[in-house]
Amino acid sequence: MSDFDLIVIGAGPGGYVAAIRAAQLGLKVACVEGRETLGGTCLNVGCIPSKALLHASHMLHEAEHNFAKMGLKGKSPSVDWPQMQSYRAETVAQNTKGIEFLFKKNKVTWLKGWGSIPEAGKVKVGDEVHGAKAILIASGSEASPLKGVEVDEKVIVTSTGALELAKVPKTLAVIGAGVIGLELGSVYARLGSEVTVIEYLDTITPGMDGDLQKALKRTLEKQGLKFVMGATVQGAKVSRNKAKLTWKLNKDDSEGGMDADCVLLATGRRPYVDGLGLEALGVERTKRGQIATDAQWKTNVPGIYAIGDVIEGPMLAHKAEDEGMAVAEVIAGKHGHVNYGVIPGVIYTTPEVATVGATEEALKAEGRAYKVGKFPFMGNARAKAVFQGDGFVKMLADKETDRILGCHIIGPGAGDLIHEICVSMEFGAAAEDVALTCHAHPTYSEAVREAALACGDGAIHA
Ligand code: NAI
Repeated sequence: MSDFDLIVIGAGPGGYVAAIRAAQLGLKVACVEGRETLGGTCLNVGCIPSKALLHASHMLHEAEHNFAKMGLKGKSPSVDWPQMQSYRAETVAQNTKGIEFLFKKNKVTWLKGWGSIPEAGKVKVGDEVHGAKAILIASGSEASPLKGVEVDEKVIVTSTGALELAKVPKTLAVIGAGVIGLELGSVYARLGSEVTVIEYLDTITPGMDGDLQKALKRTLEKQGLKFVMGATVQGAKVSRNKAKLTWKLNKDDSEGGMDADCVLLATGRRPYVDGLGLEALGVERTKRGQIATDAQWKTNVPGIYAIGDVIEGPMLAHKAEDEGMAVAEVIAGKHGHVNYGVIPGVIYTTPEVATVGATEEALKAEGRAYKVGKFPFMGNARAKAVFQGDGFVKMLADKETDRILGCHIIGPGAGDLIHEICVSMEFGAAAEDVALTCHAHPTYSEAVREAALACGDGAIHA
């Protein structure tokens, strides 16, 4: 048994960042993690391995579709799935070992095992009980179950199983046109699977700006993904390593279905708090099962804090990281702050999709006076040179003050471009501030400036 100033439960992007920052601020810190490796869902079975597969399959797509146009001739590469899997695993290992190194460097103790909180001020890991002045719950999330669809992580998989399938399936049915469904759906479409996405709503990626939703769906359809929209999945039955999926269309209750070698269940995630002992402690939960916290990430039980996917807000690694840094500051007696109005969201399809701030639909619903500056990547020389002219930047600014209210990008490097607008919004910038900033030529970033110009007297290249 040892005593710590802070024990963090969970070493995902929220937990490990909080542990490192708290140690940097002089606290004696431990982090409890039951997985074999640090980094949580994101590093082990989420953001990072999926990016390896997205990259590899994108390269294949480039070779098949664009190499010959550029004068690069020769046999197009074929998929060596076991090697692609090793590349994925090696990418994960490098990153998880990196966190282990950072823990050692910052003197964060890794308590290996699954933690529980027998009482406030104490954390039990295995047979040992450790004392903690503060406890931070950062235990993340798990895939939400769906009635009638039993996950075996072989034929019916969540995002975890989808990363390590035994082979590339001939047919893949994806339940849910959210971020996971579209990212992994596009990986397998590029690797040769016939992919059908079944979505309950009439639009993909709920909550995203409508123009982006339409453009992304069109692009994915061009890449071969099929969509069944407005459909409620009834169930999936597995026999002889194949699944039979059935659904009903919401508009007329007509029945549909398909056979698939693999079904990916991607209908959202829910907080993971199993075994922590929250009920006995009396930790308050929201109606959706998240841990309820105040603006400083304190639960109703003194000394217990929570961040990341277990609390309210978007289930995003970087949101958890920001909360991790801020809560460490609060626990160390400083002032931690997260600006929830400026949290970017990125979908790592090709082209990428990135968004920050208000959508046009949200501004309309608020009755706010706004202007729209839109610029297509077709007008961007760099994008056209690399066959990435599809997509656009859409900037939303206040009609009176010109202050940037949101930005929505579909196009090359969107996930990086969005940060110019995040910083601008943090500083309360007007669209004109971006428009008057010199942008290097030829870069994709010029499209962001042109969208800002379009909020004023007009873009130059459109
Ligand atoms: P999601 O919430 O993004 O999308 C789920 C989709 O499933 C929705 O479109 C919903 O309408 C649909 N759906 C729900 N029930 C259904 C049913 N019975 N039949 C058909 N469709 C149904 O959830 P997703 O994609 O599982 O992702 C989970 C979380 O992980 C999200 O919060 C997401 O933000 C996060 N994530 C973020 C990534 C990123 O930032 N690039 C990558 C992967 C995950």
